Amino acid sequence: MQFAKRLAPLQMNVFADMDRAKSRARAAGREILDLSLGSSDLPTEPHVIEAIAQSLYDPSTHGYLLFHGTKAFRQAAAEWYTKKFGVAVDPETEVLPLIGSQEGTAHLPLAILNPGDFALLLDPGYPSHAGGVYLASGQIYPMPLRAENQFLPVFEEIPAEVLAQSRMMVLSYPHNPTTAIAPLSFFQKAVRFCQEHDLVLVHDFPYADFYLGKETMPSVLQADPDKTVSIEFFTFSKSYKMGGFRVGYAIGNSELILALRQVKAAVDFNQYLGILNGAIAALQGDQAGVHQAVEIYRHRRDVFVDRLHEIGWPVPMPEAAMYVWARLPEPWVKDSIDFAVKLVEATGVAVSPGAGFGKSGEGYVRFALVHEPEILVEAVDRIAGFLRG
Ligand SMILES: Cc1ncc(COP(=O)(O)O)c(C=O)c1O
Repeated sequence: MQFAKRLAPLQMNVFADMDRAKSRARAAGREILDLSLGSSDLPTEPHVIEAIAQSLYDPSTHGYLLFHGTKAFRQAAAEWYTKKFGVAVDPETEVLPLIGSQEGTAHLPLAILNPGDFALLLDPGYPSHAGGVYLASGQIYPMPLRAENQFLPVFEEIPAEVLAQSRMMVLSYPHNPTTAIAPLSFFQKAVRFCQEHDLVLVHDFPYADFYLGKETMPSVLQADPDKTVSIEFFTFSKSYKMGGFRVGYAIGNSELILALRQVKAAVDFNQYLGILNGAIAALQGDQAGVHQAVEIYRHRRDVFVDRLHEIGWPVPMPEAAMYVWARLPEPWVKDSIDFAVKLVEATGVAVSPGAGFGKSGEGYVRFALVHEPEILVEAVDRIAGFLRG
């Protein structure tokens, strides 16, 4: 059978290699401690479950859901956004419900890129950003993120000929996998750059609430309040622990929202109304669960990083998100995939190899803090045994 050329880059997925290594470890009788996926282990709040459960018994939620039927959700999202970030949002033209934010960021390039156009992506970065560009037959220009630049891209390094053919830039801070944060001044610079070069500015913002310090994280629309070039993506997967429910939304420039809506209209009929009702309950209900979740991740980070330091692995203390991004010790620093595969086979501890997030991720691994502190300590102890050889 013949398949489209765009499928080829989608098949190069190191996470599939890791999955096979995990299966081998399981078959060999190892107990897997999985720190490889950023899927929250914490339960969804009861008031959210209750709103979904009520909807299940209401037959008016059972049919196809057209855009106008999502009005209450769009209003709740706009109100939540304005309260948190102080930027006015029109729920009719500037908000779009999504079946998870990954769905939205992966579909958006279809609305922006012609075949061969460039998208400027963070390297390392979240794999679906690249996946969406491949699906749209676009080209990727990876903007390397380096520790010495606080894992922020240097726009001046982008070659003029690439810039001339570029249509969009994708940012995402707090950043997965490096946990870097970006100040408002960086977003202001990015907005000016994108305005100057006629680029769409995409900001994927799943860790909006996951600052482990005391401040709040800036939204890109605070740097572009007139929404001249920007679109931002939000999810319920992290703050509201609803990853399996698949719900998120985009807020931004009305032309971009309409263009993405047109692509999605060819593909789906929106998320189930009952799940949107749960998401409304999440946004409008008590936010104590969000603060508790952040507190839990802060504690796990402290326990995990302290233990890594005790075994002699000097990782920096992450300020945001739910991960630890660790530079590998010698001799592993040259091959993060080899490290991750051998580690899981030998110890059952599964981590994400940095190379899976892009070329500039090589030399690192990402630990997701998705277990109780005792399990995290057990994982570090097994890693210590592995490193001793
Ligand atoms: C940067 C980034 N974007 C998107 C997602 C996925 O979000 P969703 O569950 O809403 O598709 C994740 C999940 O880890 C992420 O880290």
